[in-house]
Amino acid sequence: MSEHDPKSQSSQTIDVLLEEDRTFEPSAQFKSQANIADPGIYEKARKDPENFWASFAEELHWYRKWDKVLEWNPPYAKWFVGGKINACYNCVDRHVKNGLRNKAALIWQGEPGEKRTLTYWDLYREVNKFANALKGLGVVKGDRVAIYLPMIPELVISLLACARIGAVHSVVFAGFSPEALADRIKDAKAKVLITADGGYRRGSIIPLKHDADYALMDTPSIEHVVIVKRGEFMLRVKEGRDHWYHRLMQEAANYCEPEPMDAEDMLYILYTSGTTGKPKGIIHTTGGYLVGTYATSKWVFDLKPQDVFWCTADIGWVTGHSYLVYGPLANGATQVMYEGAPDWPDRDRFWSIIEEYGVTVFYTAPTAIRAFMRWGDKEPAKHDLSSLRLLGTVGEPINPEAWMWYHRNIGREKCPIVDTWWQTETGSILITPLPGITKTKPGSATVPFPGIEAEIFTDKGERVEVGGGYLALTRPWPAMLRGIYGDPERYKAQYWTKWKGDLYFTGDGAKRDTEGYFWILGRVDDVINIAGHRVSTMEVESAFVDHPDVVETAVVGIADELKGQAIAAFVTLREGVELDHGLENRLKDHVVRKIGALARPKQILFTAELPKTRSGKIMRRLLRDIASGQVPGDTSTLADPSVVEQLKRRYEED
Ligand code: PRX
Repeated sequence: MSEHDPKSQSSQTIDVLLEEDRTFEPSAQFKSQANIADPGIYEKARKDPENFWASFAEELHWYRKWDKVLEWNPPYAKWFVGGKINACYNCVDRHVKNGLRNKAALIWQGEPGEKRTLTYWDLYREVNKFANALKGLGVVKGDRVAIYLPMIPELVISLLACARIGAVHSVVFAGFSPEALADRIKDAKAKVLITADGGYRRGSIIPLKHDADYALMDTPSIEHVVIVKRGEFMLRVKEGRDHWYHRLMQEAANYCEPEPMDAEDMLYILYTSGTTGKPKGIIHTTGGYLVGTYATSKWVFDLKPQDVFWCTADIGWVTGHSYLVYGPLANGATQVMYEGAPDWPDRDRFWSIIEEYGVTVFYTAPTAIRAFMRWGDKEPAKHDLSSLRLLGTVGEPINPEAWMWYHRNIGREKCPIVDTWWQTETGSILITPLPGITKTKPGSATVPFPGIEAEIFTDKGERVEVGGGYLALTRPWPAMLRGIYGDPERYKAQYWTKWKGDLYFTGDGAKRDTEGYFWILGRVDDVINIAGHRVSTMEVESAFVDHPDVVETAVVGIADELKGQAIAAFVTLREGVELDHGLENRLKDHVVRKIGALARPKQILFTAELPKTRSGKIMRRLLRDIASGQVPGDTSTLADPSVVEQLKRRYEED
């Protein structure tokens, strides 16, 4: 944190602000049909946030109503205290009972071309049976279940089946390496792993079970493994431990009574990168999380019974948890779920899916939008996208040009765009336009959702009315994280100690303009946001140093046209190691093996020394300057300032 220089970021953003004066009002037509169109809602929610959130909770099914909406003992919040609820019941049974049993819940598109549609009744049937199958393997309330699956309907079914019986799911993105999977299984002490024989991505097969077998060599807590059969992929089955999903389902009974969960019982753990050490297991609980995702899905995406919603995120990330599983399903929505890559087999795959299924609300990431821009206007122009009525983005700041491209080429200048800011930790969208109310500005996530209070503070904790600083949340919200699994100290240190006064520190820099609009600047800590996914510099450094040829390394984020940010690494080799031609690629491959393909470094600069302070701390700020071709800032605190000069020269030569 302290190494970061917020000044350089703020001045960049002032430039952006000066250039950006386009605004877009919601159309009269959109307003007239919006789920919420009364601007008075902001003031109403501000005056009585507890009642505001409770009004959404009233729309859900509770076995027992809460006694108290909020109990706030900073930094721990309890929402809907005393309430009993089941998330799966609310996402499935409630709709089956309320006349939606034959409505499509999931329209699934496999990458190679298969299609499957699951109605709410189908989902109900599958989830009940799989919940029984899990019980049959000895899974009980509170047990952790790790899930390592491709984007297939069984992934949604697995989450809901866990929620039904009160097991805590811990989804690990299928693009993560076996080692990353093993770390997460061990940290959560998961009892069961649900995986698949394989999955498809850009035409190739991801051998998930094969990879999981590596992880399973080092995960003593796992008693059983369930394997979903996705294709005809080779694998080893370990008798007694490994079970085929379809076999378990053949034997499972049709109905499984949902477990009435305390509102504050854990729903899931999801690992995300932090500034130091290993990934953090972010804890989400049941009642507040469901209320938060339900409310935001309803108002931000303006979901209607006839909508076809498509969130392109993988369920391996929080966006998929909140806006593919819990939020939209709690609303009884119809959704598209797509297994594969946007450019497979062709670069118009997304647009062809939108046309084919008549998608009405589309939610994707800036990194994808930048790729679409690069592939050209002609790709979306090949398709009839007139079903679309609302667009969203999430994951990283969207530059105004990408916003405008999205507006023109996908929204055809008639769809509002909701740029939604939130985090794994926040559980639900917090800063966002409401499409029937908010005037949008390209590049701004606009204003906090009703009931949410965000502020900007300086390092010292002075409030910034207009201008740049650190983004903070000043009031608890229902879907907020409840802690870091197994590490309460880290929870406090990471989020609650930057300033006095129970303020949540987001780790993001932001600016507020004269109209009170927020412009998110990105991370201010040592987290690199690659294509909307957080990767910690620490983890990448550990992966490098794990290689026998490396003694020391420092990793920084550099701007990347497509992915937002990419990894640049400064590496010091062990003495005597020859810098041969293939070493750079071998090191990159090593990092990929340790973490996963998304962490592949873009560039490596070999150096005999890294710039350090007299106390031995690596000055990443200077490395960032060098890697991004800027003039390095103040070097006066360095033990040896000449290191920076040498590095800069080397960098320019490279
Ligand atoms: O830096 C912000 C950026 O993504 C971070 C959260 O990452 P993660 O926990 O992986 O969750 C991503 C999906 C919710 C934030 O701290 N971020 C997310 N949304 C936006 C954003 N930055 C700017 N604008 C956004 N809309």
